[in-house]
Amino acid sequence: MSLLETIVVKQLLPEKYNNMSDEEIHERIRQVKAQLGKELFIPGHHYQREEVIQHCDSTGDSLQLAQVSAQQKEASFIVFCGVHFMAETADILTQSHQKVLLPDMRAGCSMADMANIQQTDHAWEALQQQFGDSIIPLTYVNSTAEIKAFVGRNGGATVTSSNAHSMLKWAFEQKERILFLPDQHLGRNTAFELGIPLDQMAVWDPIKNELIYDGDLTDCKMILWKGHCSVHENFTVENIKQVREQHHGMNILVHPECTHEVVEQSDYNGSTKYIIDMIQQAEPGSKWAIGTEMNLVKRLIDQHPDKEIISLNPYMCPCLTMNRIDAKHLLWSLESILEGAPVNVITVDEEISKQAVLAINRMLERS
Ligand code: 13P
Ligand code: SF4
Repeated sequence: MSLLETIVVKQLLPEKYNNMSDEEIHERIRQVKAQLGKELFIPGHHYQREEVIQHCDSTGDSLQLAQVSAQQKEASFIVFCGVHFMAETADILTQSHQKVLLPDMRAGCSMADMANIQQTDHAWEALQQQFGDSIIPLTYVNSTAEIKAFVGRNGGATVTSSNAHSMLKWAFEQKERILFLPDQHLGRNTAFELGIPLDQMAVWDPIKNELIYDGDLTDCKMILWKGHCSVHENFTVENIKQVREQHHGMNILVHPECTHEVVEQSDYNGSTKYIIDMIQQAEPGSKWAIGTEMNLVKRLIDQHPDKEIISLNPYMCPCLTMNRIDAKHLLWSLESILEGAPVNVITVDEEISKQAVLAINRMLERS
């Protein structure tokens, strides 16, 4: 058996979990949680399935989960119900004796995969030649630990969708222009709301290794990495048109990972937390078409029967990688801890961690 096959086999869910009933799985999760007590902490992102969210000790968006991870001093084991970059961030923010587990190693993020460190080093070299020392890098937390480390050692910071405005303002106080990785839409939408016109924004194409920009380079304020979220890009201007035609009085509320055209035509846009708060505060009887991940939209529909809530795109699916984490994988993680052989432990290299934490702390200090 090759090394790769060994790794793959090791990471596959043991068959016994497929043979258990749902009741048994949930009951065993409750038992292991009770047994491990304060030794265990389970954070869960709002995009997780309901079968997982019900067992989480704390739920939140990316920023809230980074904050609770940093505050978590007691638990020896953090079983992170979210995606790989979030578990990496938790590992960076916790102490070395604390172990972070990701219940299914296949829970990656297609956006984070759109920027690797080799591409980033190439881009930085080319951009430094072009613009000199006038650029500060910012990365959305939806990025690998290596990208966060690159940003940290170059004086920049991480951002999440809930603090992107204040972090961009801070970045413009440091340098004349920003390299924003890896989500072009969050970068464009936030900069536009801060008053930067679209013709002062360039796009860096990491595949062609080139800068796409028509204007005079001295005017360029934002360099947007050509990455996107494959979930949020599925909301279109056509969806908005149809909702406005078919549902009178519907408010359109979208996440800023949607394209600029969609954000511009919506009524409101904001982070996951903003969306949740907005619906919580909405008047009974009000109508909402939401452009974000489907597990969250379904939960909002269930929690607010007094409001009319639909997905902006009627054919929308949940984020496939977030959805990889299910109750079976959660139980597998928990039982592996009890057996003394934790599976799927996320360990970020120490040197990378030291540099990445600079970028994360610059954000946490300002959030
Ligand atoms: P937030 O939790 O920052 O809103 O991010 C959304 C997201 O896509 C997480 O992967
Ligand atoms: Fe990544 Fe988008 Fe899924 Fe978030 S919703 S984990 S950004 S693919």
